[in-house]
Amino acid sequence: MRKVFKVLLILLVVIVVLVGGLASYVKFAKPDVGAAQDIKVEITPERVARGEYLANCVTVCMDCHSKRDWSTNTGPLVPGTLGQGGERFDRALGFPGVFYSRNITPAHLKDWTDGEILRAITTGVDRKGEPLMPVMPYVYYGKMDTEDIYSIIAYIRSLPEIKNEVPAPEADFPFSMIMRIIPKAAAPEKKPTEGDTLAYGKYLVNAAGCVECHTKWDKKLIAGTEFGGGRQFQLPGGVLTTPNISPDMETGIGAWTKEAFIRRFKSYVDSTYIPVKVNMAKDFVSIMPWTMYGNMKESDLAAIYTYLRTVPKQVNTVTKWQPGALVAKK
Ligand code: HEC
Ligand code: HEC
Repeated sequence: MRKVFKVLLILLVVIVVLVGGLASYVKFAKPDVGAAQDIKVEITPERVARGEYLANCVTVCMDCHSKRDWSTNTGPLVPGTLGQGGERFDRALGFPGVFYSRNITPAHLKDWTDGEILRAITTGVDRKGEPLMPVMPYVYYGKMDTEDIYSIIAYIRSLPEIKNEVPAPEADFPFSMIMRIIPKAAAPEKKPTEGDTLAYGKYLVNAAGCVECHTKWDKKLIAGTEFGGGRQFQLPGGVLTTPNISPDMETGIGAWTKEAFIRRFKSYVDSTYIPVKVNMAKDFVSIMPWTMYGNMKESDLAAIYTYLRTVPKQVNTVTKWQPGALVAKK
């Protein structure tokens, strides 16, 4: 009898240790993307120029990592805040916690190695091995050509230092656990030549993360609805829904000419453009960073247009702005 009791006791101890171990494994395990690479990115004028272009006009790092002026439509950057971080993504906007973009000027990143910066941008894991909130579109950056990421690193290394302490993030349970398993090792792809317009357009659309906003969303992108719009954003003044940018003639942008497409982007950076003052509490405000994408080269916008003509058509009519409305809770 005593023997049976002893065996049961041992079994119980084993079970307790296993369950406890599993829970703390998920809680304390770091995302599994490997160590930061041992690399040194040489800073050349070509890389800084390419990085500046990408970070400000395509991957729009500076859109999230600088202060935005939300008294103006599309929230243009506040001069003198480039890379300082501190933009807030919180529960009121539908995020599972409170997150702040971080300071990416040398004031904060100077002690990081190039490998650590590369890993953060392309896999979403910070210097300490902790996961970053995927509002930072690292999943897309992980598919970019490594040479382009080196250029972005060379550029942010040469930004003027701005001292700005950013509050620590606070992720809600269970997302705090889920976000540990999202980061994946990067799978960089070679950049097509600019002459290969369709492939280059696809590369740019990935780098710019257009699909992230222009696709239906329920905790993640709803597969099969890519580029059909319909993702809703709760803004203080109402619900903003992204339009359909698939080539459907009736409900998408199938009827747009290439010239009209390019003009729409360029109109925000044209010398005749008058920034529209808005009251965020009630007015329509676009969160699409038009004033940044608008500085893309015309040939790059044309390549994006060419690629968007080839994605599957989605039939989806969207009401862009519903003043005073709330996003329905699921
Ligand atoms: C849509 C907004 C957004 C965009 C675009 C974006 N980031 Fe971030 N980034 C964030 C947020 C938010 C965090 C912090 C996440 C957290 O706290 O979990 C972050 C974190 C980082 C970190 C980690 C810093 C640290 O102290 O741990 C680096 C480095 C970084 N971003 C660089 C970049 C670069 C370079 C780009 C462009 C290639 C970029 N980001 C584009 C929102 C963005
Ligand atoms: C942060 C979210 C976000 C990102 C990223 C984004 N968009 Fe948008 N986009 C919007 C919203 C919201 C609107 C509707 C408001 C407006 O027209 O400004 C919009 C409108 C548009 C329109 C106008 C469509 C119409 O019917 O009037 C086009 C075209 C467009 N986006 C293309 C793109 C492309 C191409 C990219 C990538 C280079 C992109 N968007 C990235 C949110 C986004």
